[in-house]
Amino acid sequence: MELLIPSRAARPADDPIFALNTEANARRARGESIVNATVGALLDDEGKLAILPSVVETLREVPAVQAATYAPLAGPASYLQAVIGDVLAGTPLAEHAIAVASPGGTGALRLATEAYLERGQSLLTSSMYWGPYKTIADEGDRGLDTFSMFSATSNGETSLDVGALEQKLHAHLATQGRALLFLNDPCQNPTGYSMRDAEWRAVVDVLAKAGEKGPINVLVDIAYYLYGSGDPRAFLAHLGPLVGKVGLSFAWSGSKSFAQYGARVGAMIVVDPDVARRNRARDALTYSCRGTWSNCNHPSMLAIARILGEAPLRAKVDAERAQSKQLLDGRVRAFNEAAKGTSLRYPRYDGGFFSTVFVPAGKDPQRIGAAMREHGVYVVPQGTVDKAGGLRVALCSVAERDVARLVETMDKALRA
Ligand SMILES: Cc1ncc(COP(=O)(O)O)c(C=O)c1O
Repeated sequence: MELLIPSRAARPADDPIFALNTEANARRARGESIVNATVGALLDDEGKLAILPSVVETLREVPAVQAATYAPLAGPASYLQAVIGDVLAGTPLAEHAIAVASPGGTGALRLATEAYLERGQSLLTSSMYWGPYKTIADEGDRGLDTFSMFSATSNGETSLDVGALEQKLHAHLATQGRALLFLNDPCQNPTGYSMRDAEWRAVVDVLAKAGEKGPINVLVDIAYYLYGSGDPRAFLAHLGPLVGKVGLSFAWSGSKSFAQYGARVGAMIVVDPDVARRNRARDALTYSCRGTWSNCNHPSMLAIARILGEAPLRAKVDAERAQSKQLLDGRVRAFNEAAKGTSLRYPRYDGGFFSTVFVPAGKDPQRIGAAMREHGVYVVPQGTVDKAGGLRVALCSVAERDVARLVETMDKALRA
């Protein structure tokens, strides 16, 4: 007799990325030479997690009794202030912001689906997206719908298909009376894409116009924002026209920013100039916290609040992160260099943990991935033979010295 309810009776427990990673590690342990570009964490050139020593030290210094007590449901005030400041300090958005703690950025994504969609309604995101978006939607009995992510420009470059986004936003307003958009930028997972200023302006324009027709919420997932090229907060300058017109929120994550994937620090930041509505949002999100994970990891939040709040400590952590980023940037350059003149086609990639190489319709990403694995190179195939797919390459976990081999193996498999 099945004891699970029908909708839960065939849930896959295993994430395909974790399965590939396990296989790659097992082969490496048997002495094979393996390039493992599946892991979504920044590893050093020896394959160890690139931790930030001052963050680890600060975590150790959290007083035992403080660490052991329950955190407030919405998170400690010092942490919430620090997180808002981390993203929005110096921008006009800051004065309209509230935050609620969550276990990682994932928790914030979950909070957003609960607060902004009824059961049965769908969130909207780009056609290439981080797989757990779908899991989060499923888990909350919501759906996920996509807009075609890229269109080719006249010079052959890819750019965000803002027209496709606009069309879907209006379709959601028409069919479900509201829309919730997840935008992962900068350094989108899985494509590595960061929108340029003109793309942000176009997206904001479309959102503001759609916001006149009905309730739109846009959540910017900034999990990787400190690893892009240029000023990580530059895009915020474009968001002003949205304030008060559409719901604007951010999924903030400490996992990558502080290289503490296991500490589960995150927050949802909501920007709304309407004080009563903003307070209602805080109440709803806090209630949601209580009803799911109760409260978050207290010692991690206290440590991150201290790092963000003490200028010298923050500067030290920033310097350590800059070193890790330098490592990553070297791999990005090596990838772009090695890919020149090959069959690899991928969106502009100038920083971040991942890139995704396009697989044209008619070719099977799964088979290409399998062919690469025969040569000891692991990437994450996305999609199927009948739909243009891709191969996600986690440069964050590949030493610069292995990048040329990775590209060569992929080029051969794509040409076969
Ligand atoms: C696109 C994206 N968003 C959010 C997250 C959130 O991660 P976490 O819950 O560890 O903060 C990740 C982590 O891999 C991610 O890739």
